Amino acid sequence: MKSPRHSQPRAPLASADQPASGLPPLDQPWSLLGGLSPQTFMRRHWQKKPLLIRQAMPGVRPPVTRAEMFELAGQDDVESRLIVQGGKGSGKKAEPQWALHHGPITRNRVPKLTQPRWTLLVQGLDLHVPAAHDILRQFRFVPDARVDDLMISYASDGGGVGPHYDSYDVFLLQVHGCRRWRVGRIQDPALVPDMPVKILANFEPEEEYVLEPGDMLYLPPRWGHDGIAEGECMTCSVGFRVPETTELVRDVLVRLTEELEPHDPPKLYRDPKQTATPEPARIPVDLQQFTLDAVAKALQDPLALKSALGEMLTEPKPRVWFDLGAEPLPPGVGVVLDAKTRMMYDDQCIYANGESWRAAGADARVLRALADRRSLTAAQVGRVSDEVRAVLEQWLDDGWLHPSN
Ligand code: SIN
Ligand code: CO
Repeated sequence: MKSPRHSQPRAPLASADQPASGLPPLDQPWSLLGGLSPQTFMRRHWQKKPLLIRQAMPGVRPPVTRAEMFELAGQDDVESRLIVQGGKGSGKKAEPQWALHHGPITRNRVPKLTQPRWTLLVQGLDLHVPAAHDILRQFRFVPDARVDDLMISYASDGGGVGPHYDSYDVFLLQVHGCRRWRVGRIQDPALVPDMPVKILANFEPEEEYVLEPGDMLYLPPRWGHDGIAEGECMTCSVGFRVPETTELVRDVLVRLTEELEPHDPPKLYRDPKQTATPEPARIPVDLQQFTLDAVAKALQDPLALKSALGEMLTEPKPRVWFDLGAEPLPPGVGVVLDAKTRMMYDDQCIYANGESWRAAGADARVLRALADRRSLTAAQVGRVSDEVRAVLEQWLDDGWLHPSN
């Protein structure tokens, strides 16, 4: 499966009217997007302006029941938070008080259902619940590299996380009960001081909508929003990842240095022209240049940088672990990626769960199809090379994928 270093990238096989994900055509109207095509949505709204979509998912049911959600919030491999809003506080400027508790939130820590103004949030529901993963998959008209997770919140009457903004795009899908959303551009980013949650001090909403089950609100980054439950309610948020320069540089450099092979023979600093120095503590300019050149050379390989990025983007989140599978791949079956598997590709490599494989030709095509579709049919598996089969067997063993019929 290893390919020559500079193999020619192939033209993509998927297109807007036939996405490789198996989703409907991207240039046709989608009811999920209120009759906009994904192409139009991306052009008009993505990162630009909000969109309210009535009945984006008619008849949607919560991907978990309230009881199942509370159960998940109590597990240590699930990220959860509980936010409880207290009384109006005291003093001249009476602000509501907020308390934040990090998970696991065991059942005895969850307030009474009749107590108003609290909310429980479970992050990464798609990793644990197939129905949540299915909801998230409908948003794969956005690159996987940008998708973060599906979060679910349960709120008692009046509950919410307070007026705030996020640094990422979000689709807020109402799945049970009603929630009143107030949204608006941020005029003043000041936060209420000394609060465990980020609450905008002077939020001035421009619009207000009550969302019912099936309704959805898209918000670009840095749009203020405040969602208050009207009676108990559940909301799913599809959140996106926003790579940030410092984090990208740090992660990519760590991976690059891990891959560095020592030179053989070692490339040692030499200074035959060094003169006798009157300033022994001064660092020689030649040594500085030697270091700059070595670092610049290590950064010069764009393929190594791209591989480091692919590995970083597919790295599973902390607290994610796979249940090992032991069986060899049975004959005549297809495969489906585990919901926790992150798989992506670029022109040279295939990336899965923080690792990379160089692939070209038919091997690359079938592995890219697996990444885009998250599954392969029995017929596709039947045609793979011995090398790809070995990779699939390994992933099966690691619990990264499973047999499917
Ligand atoms: C919530 O579901 O209560 C909060 C979601 C968000 O504001 O991003
Ligand atoms: Co938010």
